[in-house]
Amino acid sequence: MKLFRRKTIDSCLADIANPLTQLKKVLGPWQLIALGIGAVIGAGIFASIGTAAAGDALRPGAGPAITISFILTAIACGFAALCYAEFAAMVPISGSAYTYSYATMGELVAWIIGWDLIIEYAVGNIAVAISWSGYFTQLLHGLGISLPLWLATDLRTALASPEILAAAPHIGSIPIVCNLPAALIVLAITWILVIGIRESSLFNTIMVVIKLLTLGLFVAVGFFYVQPENWQPFMPNGWAGVQAGAAVIFFAYIGFDAVSTVAEECRNPAKDMPIGIIGSLLACTFIYIVVAVVLTGIVPSNELNVSEPLALALTRLGLVKSAGFVSLGAVIALTAVLLVFQMGQPRIFFSMARDGLLPPWGAKVHPKYRTPHVTTIITGVVVAFFAAFASIDEMVDLTNIGTLFAFILVCMGILFLRVTDPNRPRPFKAPFFPIVPLAGIASCLYLMLGLPTITWIRFGIWLLVGMVLYFAYGIRHSRLR
Ligand code: ALA
Repeated sequence: MKLFRRKTIDSCLADIANPLTQLKKVLGPWQLIALGIGAVIGAGIFASIGTAAAGDALRPGAGPAITISFILTAIACGFAALCYAEFAAMVPISGSAYTYSYATMGELVAWIIGWDLIIEYAVGNIAVAISWSGYFTQLLHGLGISLPLWLATDLRTALASPEILAAAPHIGSIPIVCNLPAALIVLAITWILVIGIRESSLFNTIMVVIKLLTLGLFVAVGFFYVQPENWQPFMPNGWAGVQAGAAVIFFAYIGFDAVSTVAEECRNPAKDMPIGIIGSLLACTFIYIVVAVVLTGIVPSNELNVSEPLALALTRLGLVKSAGFVSLGAVIALTAVLLVFQMGQPRIFFSMARDGLLPPWGAKVHPKYRTPHVTTIITGVVVAFFAAFASIDEMVDLTNIGTLFAFILVCMGILFLRVTDPNRPRPFKAPFFPIVPLAGIASCLYLMLGLPTITWIRFGIWLLVGMVLYFAYGIRHSRLR
């Protein structure tokens, strides 16, 4: 029975009324949409789009039909977004899917989802930081500054390259290789977040404007160089390519749900949460499709499997200056993504610690800044460490499987709660019940099936480790005891 004990929604709402652990309420609807776009447009459109279109050793590419992949993924995300919006408006609490499942499906499922969200936020951010480092290094290169490769490369790439290993300094016989820019950007962002959410939100808004201008520049310039023959064959690998492409490109959409993690810092969550979540998803879908149509129109899709496909496409056309601006824009875009995800992760830990599933020091709020500083710092240090050594593709695949699983659990939560607690006031309701949550579950599962086997295995191991931790600590310390 312990495993299924549930927090009531009323007790969740009482938690956030406690002045000792209360966060500052400063965010309105436009800031939420900006936060969503800040989280969403990033490494997915600037980097993973290339892998999705061209394919790699683990999967077939979608080709120009990557536009179809974008639409498929947007539909799956749309179903999940409606469920997220219903939850976030009803339970406006930091902790997102974790809190929702605690209130609906009980403690064990809540723990699983909280553990799973670490993959979405922290592992996702490792991938984004690595991609940030790639664009940053390239930008420096364009300015005539070249970092040594051993200082800006992930471990797997370095181990496969005798030149990098030979150039690296050694301690004894061990070569020193790391991705220093990736680690440093994460630490810098952590510092901004400890200082406070108001500053971070303004910072985010400015970066969102810059990233929209960057993608706008890419489309405006690229449009004139489109050659329709590049769109043929449209589906070089049939539906298998489209499905695999959709599963990769899902990374580009992750983040609209991060809006829900700041519900506690929002002035009017009942109204503004749905606007923030659905508004940012719609805006991003439109932008992605336009970028994908232009990108696949100017370069043959099978040549796109590089770490900076948008810059590559413009460089190919001889537009070196525009390519430089796009690289600069990518660095800024990715910084914004890092910011929102680094903000989301500690707030999930924070909620879990407040519930006793993690040790109590995780629920401390900084006396002056009113931010969850302990969990923010721990997240920053761990993400920075892995960003210094991990490889991006593996991190993207793992992030996608973990996030899709979280979306499925949220859709299930909506189904469950409509049946068990039909009379609770719902300021926003996902339409066409039960079609939307059921379609959300089915479509997310479809995308998960497009991911490589090795990713499923890693995800299984991650969940197993989580179970061990829960039975060793959370089950005995849960505040619900
Ligand atoms: N959607 C985010 C990105 O593409 C995670 O970087």
